[in-house]
Amino acid sequence: MLKINDIVKEFPGVKALDGITLEIQDKEFFGLLGPNGAGKSTLINIIVGYLQADKGNITYKGKDIKELGISYKKRIGLVPQTIALYEDLNAIDNLKIFGSLFDIPKKELKNIIEEKLSAVGLYERRKDLIKNYSGGMKRRLNIIAALLHNPDILLCDEPTVGVDPQSRNAIFNYLNDLNEKGMTIIYTTHYMEEAEKLCKRIGIIDYGKIIALGTLDELLSLIPPNKLIYIARNNFTETKIENFNKFGTITTENCKYKLEANHNFKLSEFFKALEENGVSERFIEIYKPNLETLFLNLTGRIFRD
Ligand SMILES: Nc1ncnc2c1ncn2[C@@H]1O[C@H](COP(=O)(O)OP(=O)(O)O)[C@@H](O)[C@H]1O
Ligand SMILES: [Mg+2]
Repeated sequence: MLKINDIVKEFPGVKALDGITLEIQDKEFFGLLGPNGAGKSTLINIIVGYLQADKGNITYKGKDIKELGISYKKRIGLVPQTIALYEDLNAIDNLKIFGSLFDIPKKELKNIIEEKLSAVGLYERRKDLIKNYSGGMKRRLNIIAALLHNPDILLCDEPTVGVDPQSRNAIFNYLNDLNEKGMTIIYTTHYMEEAEKLCKRIGIIDYGKIIALGTLDELLSLIPPNKLIYIARNNFTETKIENFNKFGTITTENCKYKLEANHNFKLSEFFKALEENGVSERFIEIYKPNLETLFLNLTGRIFRD
């Protein structure tokens, strides 16, 4: 539905986007995951049309978004990374201003505002000034401000930064609900767990390039099957650990042994050896790879947030 073709964007001294090609499907929940400075906001701002790319183009349902102009803008909603609300106005007055940008008839807008405020649990606080809102409340209002014109695609740029866990869950549930009702969502984040939990398909962006793309399972399958196993270190395992040298390299880490398995490692053989040595499986932890492991594998760097 939305095709992003070889987008390049340079700022003085930095190539923010270095040839991004992506296709977003109708009704999908797509995650753009990357560390700070990776280029997420730049890409979002180009998709929305706030920034012009130096190279490349974007098409929506086959037509260049530059040619579509306003008819395209009406189909998308942007939840910006920086909260864009008037602090000295209440929630209703803020939403009226956002609604007026999209020429929604007054009476209709009033109903939409009430419905959206209720949906995110802000109806009771609708007449409070925004400056008295918590971070989580502002984020929720920031989201519904992008939805008044009922867009087909919602772009959320790090919508949970500075949000308490309860508001974060409320936001997740709300976005999931919108997606289930048919809205396409593009969600940027620098939180691995958010991408893992929320997004059906994930693109990992680093230094303006997509370095991996796929469902969570597809991405995890890219990690070499080099297993990492931890064995509890105690009086008993200490006498047995030598018998496990054949499975890989063993080092000591505080109260654990860390076994980095050989390439020909077989889990079944390892379990057999545990049994033969009388080492209980209680003492064993098999490390489960996640997107952090993948990022480290692809870039040699730790993903920090
Ligand atoms: N308006 C701008 N002027 C100069 N450099 C910018 C501007 N916007 C972003 N950048 C730079 O482009 C890179 C990507 O930034 P950004 O898209 O904001 O990353 P992210 O949203 O992933 O944190 C960064 O190095 C950032 O400093
Ligand atoms: Mg950003």
